[in-house]
Amino acid sequence: MSIEVLSGKVFLVITGASRGIGRQIAITFGPLLQEGSHILLLARNLNSLQEIAKNISSKVTVHTVSMDLGEVTKTDFEKTILGCLKETTRDAFDRVVVVHNVGTIGDVTKLTNEMLDIDYWKQYYTLNLFLPAVLNAVIMNLFDESTNTKKVVINITSLFAIQVNAACGYYCSVKAAREMFFKVFALENPDVNVLNYSPGPVDTDMFQIVCETVKNPETKKRLKHMQETNTVLTTEQTVKRLLKILKEQKYNAGDRIDYFDN
Ligand SMILES: NC(=O)c1ccc[n+]([C@@H]2O[C@H](COP(=O)([O-])OP(=O)(O)OC[C@H]3O[C@@H](n4cnc5c(N)ncnc54)[C@H](OP(=O)(O)O)[C@@H]3O)[C@@H](O)[C@H]2O)c1
Repeated sequence: MSIEVLSGKVFLVITGASRGIGRQIAITFGPLLQEGSHILLLARNLNSLQEIAKNISSKVTVHTVSMDLGEVTKTDFEKTILGCLKETTRDAFDRVVVVHNVGTIGDVTKLTNEMLDIDYWKQYYTLNLFLPAVLNAVIMNLFDESTNTKKVVINITSLFAIQVNAACGYYCSVKAAREMFFKVFALENPDVNVLNYSPGPVDTDMFQIVCETVKNPETKKRLKHMQETNTVLTTEQTVKRLLKILKEQKYNAGDRIDYFDN
């Protein structure tokens, strides 16, 4: 499949790439990239990242870096990216593609009046909002106009960014904030191709955690029903849909598109 936004020599960055949707994005996008492209896979579990790298063609250089994306600094991001570019130069790439996929569901046992622990709030928002925003800025600044590199930014958002769910105060609020952040980013950077992709309900560890722990019985019942009726999507299904959206390019910068949208 030829997809213009993945064409040319690409520097592809995927966060949360060791499992679930991020893993599938790496496995599906990798073979589509031109020879000489580089992929940077970030998550904590290095063994899983290395296993994924083995499945990607040797025409492409894959960098696997274990990183707690809730604990890093701007300098760590800069060093990691520059470390990947040691054998090449930034202007050797036609395109940089960033997939902000990392995400955690957070504590879904608490109602809003029980969300009193400021340290938890900070830690949760650092991983799910603050550091994705910092990573994004680091990449945009490293690949600035002087490199003449086209840029594509994909934020993996959620239905919960726009649909209210009891006991999901951390997740719903952070997903809404992150989506809006990338809309502001798109407005300020009209040269960047920005997509907020909502992947639908997908059979991953995160989905299992919500099913098992969410305090709201209605949400629990709804998700369990999806599992019992086999209506939870596979990671392959949702990433295939993402590719179709990228191929068709029917969105405006910053738009939100859901798996189920026409
Ligand atoms: N599954 C769904 O139904 C669904 C629905 C809507 C939206 N989404 C969104 O899709 C994205 C991916 O979700 P998923 O379901 O694939 O989740 P998942 O299976 O739980 O995978 C999460 C990924 O994030 C990484 N990660 C978690 N904490 C990290 C940390 N502190 N530092 C570095 N990496 C970390 C994990 O790797 P390590 O453990 O190796 O670090 C893993 O690779 C998220 O943004 C989520 O909000 C999912």
